[in-house]
Amino acid sequence: MRKSMIAANFKMNKNIDEAITYIKEFSTLVKDVENIDIVIGASPILLYAMKNELKTDKIELSAQNVHWKDSGAFTAETSAKVVKSLGINYTILGHSERRQYFCETDETLNLRVKNALNNDLKIIFCIGETLEEREANKTIEKVSTQLKEGLKEISIGEMKNISIAYEPIWAIGTGVTATPEQAQNTHKEIRTLLKEMFDQEIADSTRILYGGSVKPANVKELMSQEDIDGALVGGASLKPESFIQIVKFN
Ligand code: PGA
Repeated sequence: MRKSMIAANFKMNKNIDEAITYIKEFSTLVKDVENIDIVIGASPILLYAMKNELKTDKIELSAQNVHWKDSGAFTAETSAKVVKSLGINYTILGHSERRQYFCETDETLNLRVKNALNNDLKIIFCIGETLEEREANKTIEKVSTQLKEGLKEISIGEMKNISIAYEPIWAIGTGVTATPEQAQNTHKEIRTLLKEMFDQEIADSTRILYGGSVKPANVKELMSQEDIDGALVGGASLKPESFIQIVKFN
């Protein structure tokens, strides 16, 4: 019922030549891929050139963040309106690196979510706990706050444009993946929270991606879990030959 989504997060990697070469190579590799949404999140200064190079509708490009205003005195921020004007339909929001190193809060993220939706962008909304929070049994409390504050005043209709990415911070870029059971348990709890916050239909239809050291060797087992609908992939998305194996996990 939920279409799988595999998303790449290039983070602050790749120069213009590398990004264009990637799009050329990867476009060829996805030719026979069906029934899966493929999204590539890249630095905003690369998106325009990548979009121009994209000759397939099997791949969507994504910003990695957008501001809560369309324009104004916000030096170095990325406007959702401008992203949309490039023909880009997605943005990642709330990545833990944004929260951790750039002081993004649940409140500012909520504003970013609202403006992204106003500009007709689809959102991959990231949540996840630190190792200390997991060890203190506070995982659900943490993701619950992130969801309730970050998605405050978002309507049921708008939720159709939002996917959740559960990314335990201790698993990001560390090589330590959550076990499929750990990820499944949290995804199931997230679905229960979505039911409380919205309704059963939203709980059933919202895609929940897992992120944190996903690679070709572990994607299949993660994706076999009932409540895992996709993956947000950092390191292992940087080479087309690795990312295509994740896309073709089946
Ligand atoms: P990783 O990053 O796959 O390198 O762990 C995932 C992410 O930060 O989205």
